[in-house]
Amino acid sequence: MKLMVVGGGGREHAIIKKLKENPSVEVVYALPGNGGIAADAVCVNIGAKDIDGIVRFATENAIDFAVVAPDDPLVLGAVDALEAVGVPCFGPCKNAAIIEGSKVFSKNLMKKYGIPTAAYEVFDNMEAALAYLETAPIPTVIKADGLALGKGVIIAQTLDEAKDAVRSMMEDKVFGASGSRVVIEEFLTGPEVSVLSFTDGNVVIPMISSMDHKRAGDNDTGLNTGGMGTVAPNPYYTAEVAEECMKTIFLPTIDAMNKEGRTFKGCLYFGLMLTPNGPRVIEYNCRFGDPETQVVLPLLESDLLTIMQATANGTLADVDVRFSDKSACCVIMASKGYPVKYESGCPMTLPADDENGFIYVAGAKQTEKGLVSAGGRVLGVTAVAETLADAVKAAYKKVDAVDFANGFYRHDIGARALAAGK
Ligand code: AMP
Ligand code: GLY
Repeated sequence: MKLMVVGGGGREHAIIKKLKENPSVEVVYALPGNGGIAADAVCVNIGAKDIDGIVRFATENAIDFAVVAPDDPLVLGAVDALEAVGVPCFGPCKNAAIIEGSKVFSKNLMKKYGIPTAAYEVFDNMEAALAYLETAPIPTVIKADGLALGKGVIIAQTLDEAKDAVRSMMEDKVFGASGSRVVIEEFLTGPEVSVLSFTDGNVVIPMISSMDHKRAGDNDTGLNTGGMGTVAPNPYYTAEVAEECMKTIFLPTIDAMNKEGRTFKGCLYFGLMLTPNGPRVIEYNCRFGDPETQVVLPLLESDLLTIMQATANGTLADVDVRFSDKSACCVIMASKGYPVKYESGCPMTLPADDENGFIYVAGAKQTEKGLVSAGGRVLGVTAVAETLADAVKAAYKKVDAVDFANGFYRHDIGARALAAGK
């Protein structure tokens, strides 16, 4: 089979490596991929948002199955466009991807169907939003409605910070049109859990749980990033919590999307907070998380391509989806200065993958001088082991073997999970 994966980060590298375990896969094209992914796929210089280019490539190359991994092309309707020319896809159609594409949509969906989430108000008028803040409990959370590269959420610790956040989104338009509507919501507390799930609109199969580390610095200091590391499973996500989430969140969400005429097929990502009052949805993503995928897929024992095809066909109930009972840890190596200002084009030398650890490449370019960095998040250094403690140890040992002078990483990935697991 000829496969095509749209995207070019560490998540896509992990998806591609897993897909290639299926012996029927002849070739995987990555659009655009990156210099590290090039070791595992044929990279094609077509951007992930170039829907016309993606469709043309798929038709001209007789692609048998496509995986659309990032949020942008999904929200833009890449799956609709590919299916219209007869290319089967893993990923939701545009009318379902809105569950991530619009926070207002997802909050209203949860309210309408009684799915537990933070209390909220929606504003498209700045004066009304500012007036509301005068009476809102502080801290409060301000969210831009649309996609904002994971940066559209501001936790305001004071009234002034909250007002600044609203002005920056609605007046200064720091997130462009994404901020013309904002959600102001209740500040919740508790451990966070990422649960990725496969769903074909009929059944929902949660994958192994994971924990992201969003802040740039050790001990959760510094700015929010796309994610600086992950571990799986997440020790806070016990069997009892999983059962409650299935009943109060996962199944109700699938049902709600069906009732709205927006059947969701693909990977639905539940960003949860386990509050003292029970699990709450913090966010939905219409895709695999990055870097959650880098710890979840290495633990998947079943064939990914079979699962993805069943998800597209509506036959997921017939497929065996099994995860190993081992643990995984992924440490992101990013360019110094990320998530603000950083250099690209810096040289690096990577150790070979082996049973003790492997590297998913998130941002790199192949040049005459060898592999150089290209982007903020550069490498996802990953290890799998019998215990979480051993996986963390092995991942950091692999990090030590990487030569990337312009890189930095957090030293405490997995520390909180290990403390909680005891
Ligand atoms: P998001 O971009 O929606 O993933 O939000 C980024 C981060 O902001 C989340 O991972 C949470 O840590 C935090 N966050 C979002 N909403 C809330 C909330 N209502 N209460 C507390 N923290 C939140
Ligand atoms: N790691 C969080 C996300 O993919 O949105």
